[in-house]
Amino acid sequence: IPTKIFTTAKQGSAYAAQQIAELIREKQAKNENCVLGLATGSTPKSLYAELVRLHKEEGLSFKNVIAFNLDEYYPIERDAIQSYHRFMKQQLFDKVDIDQNNCHIPDGTTAKEEIKHHCAAYEQKIAEAGGIDLQILGIGVNGHIGFNEPGSSIFTKTRLTTLTNSTRLANSYEFANISAVPRLAITMGIGTITKAKKVILLAWGSTKAPVIREAVEGDDTEHVPASLLQNHDDVTFVVDEAAAAELT
Ligand code: F6R
Repeated sequence: IPTKIFTTAKQGSAYAAQQIAELIREKQAKNENCVLGLATGSTPKSLYAELVRLHKEEGLSFKNVIAFNLDEYYPIERDAIQSYHRFMKQQLFDKVDIDQNNCHIPDGTTAKEEIKHHCAAYEQKIAEAGGIDLQILGIGVNGHIGFNEPGSSIFTKTRLTTLTNSTRLANSYEFANISAVPRLAITMGIGTITKAKKVILLAWGSTKAPVIREAVEGDDTEHVPASLLQNHDDVTFVVDEAAAAELT
């Protein structure tokens, strides 16, 4: 997997933001929509800050952007502090000129019996938008992408899934305690993600170094979901020096 190593997360984020901005402008010039797949968590915060800066200071418009987020906890209210709806509004959507009707996130308030339909409709909306042009990913310390935990197959689509305890622990800082972290989530599948025309995975910090090595240099295996990206023909890992430390 081609890997670009930057001294700091800020520099890596600026590179990724530049890739996104170029794609948005290229599509604007052709009067086309730009379909972005977006991630949450701590990793893309500096990316979204840079995109907001490009909007405010360099006139980058998001009017032609259609966004699909990877995942959302289940169940969760949209306005809960920890919801990815709230995260995306705070980090990006409320700070740029994107049409709110073009902002799609799996709905953590969907009734249990509606989930299958909701997930199928999410896939359908992505397809109707013309597919994802550029998918941004983070990576879990266990190799998950989206909330596709180890064992998720390459054929998976958007679905309800069970979070591992290690993921719940890693994300518990956002909640009162680990038992308050939802056990379930709705996530795009590995199949959904790998259908994107272009993929950029971001990773910062030494906690990600072991899994970055496994994903880049290890076998492609469902045990390390990010390693399945080895089979995609336009994927780049953008990492800082700390996350790259175990690459040989
Ligand atoms: C978030 C997501 C997750 C995170 C991963 C890393 O939408 O899909 O795969 O990217 O858990 O989280 P952080 O960035 O908080 O280390």
